[in-house]
Amino acid sequence: MKRKIKTTAAALLCAAVSTGMLTACTSSNTTAPQEQTTVSDSSAGSEEQAAGIDYMALVNKLSPLPDNWEDNIETIHMTNSIGDDVEVEKKAYDAYFELKAELEAEGVFVDLDSARRSVADQQRIMDEFTAEYGADYAAKTVATPGYSEHHTGLALDLYLIIDGKDITENEDMVQYPEIWAKIHEKLAEHGFILRYLDGKEYITGYGYEPWHIRYIDNADIAKEIMSKNITFEEYLGKASSEEVNIDLGNSQLYTKDELKEAAVQVKCAFAGFGCELKSLRYAGDECNSPENLEYVNSLDEDANYVQVVEMFTDFHTPKEGTVVFEPDTDMNDYRWLLAREQNGGWQIVTQGYL
Ligand code: DAL
Ligand code: ZN
Repeated sequence: MKRKIKTTAAALLCAAVSTGMLTACTSSNTTAPQEQTTVSDSSAGSEEQAAGIDYMALVNKLSPLPDNWEDNIETIHMTNSIGDDVEVEKKAYDAYFELKAELEAEGVFVDLDSARRSVADQQRIMDEFTAEYGADYAAKTVATPGYSEHHTGLALDLYLIIDGKDITENEDMVQYPEIWAKIHEKLAEHGFILRYLDGKEYITGYGYEPWHIRYIDNADIAKEIMSKNITFEEYLGKASSEEVNIDLGNSQLYTKDELKEAAVQVKCAFAGFGCELKSLRYAGDECNSPENLEYVNSLDEDANYVQVVEMFTDFHTPKEGTVVFEPDTDMNDYRWLLAREQNGGWQIVTQGYL
């Protein structure tokens, strides 16, 4: 059974304490708005601080939580129908509450499973998922600590309440596409977008998550994104829309799925570079050599990599904004090394070298 990502009340409380936040939890149920208690960091001037958050900030596999976010965020705590404490950025919570009320008027009931998470929360979830389901599944499902949208407080994981029953497991929730369609239809007018779209894993790096919504505080932009069925990366111009020519060769060592998984990691990396990836090809089984293994293990003293994959890429650099490469230039045969530990997922260990 694949479980939904969630943080426990105790963990959230620890997070709040560790970030120096004063907590004051209130209850929320599925039928009526509750009075909320706002909570901010210890410095004064919460209006100014809230205005200091960039609601359009991109946090993904390549872009970590922006610096000083913790100093500027204003959050509230609520208790969900299960009794868990959930911390949410304040404006996102207000928008969520309006969305929830509108859905309830149409007989659709949702609640918040998880919203803001600390880096420690995310690490614990990653460890749990890796131990329980393996690193491949974890990498497609759980963001690397420091790189989760949940750190912003603007990403909300919903769960469904059907006939009074909480539906919180991933594999159960995806059984209700018609309910998710009703929910997704209403997101944009409240300033939310759906973040991990079906069929866009090569851009986001994650599988379809109908429950993970992201507040961007701009209904017009949200409507544009949702009506075009594009990812946030695509809207921000951080994803290549070109089809990539992929050649996974004939490996005796790795299955096509294993190589595809490695290719997705490289494609996701490119999605954040602003470079246009043209083609990607597997270098061949000889890349898993003792020399390469020794090399990748020498890059990280904590790692114990047991397999290596090498990919070649051709790409075109952006017209401006690159400090690493010549602008607006075709680059060919740039090599990428990916490695994995026993039962682990592929991790990019060296990128873009000739
Ligand atoms: N499930 C999303 C990708 C996260 O862990 O942030
Ligand atoms: Zn989520």
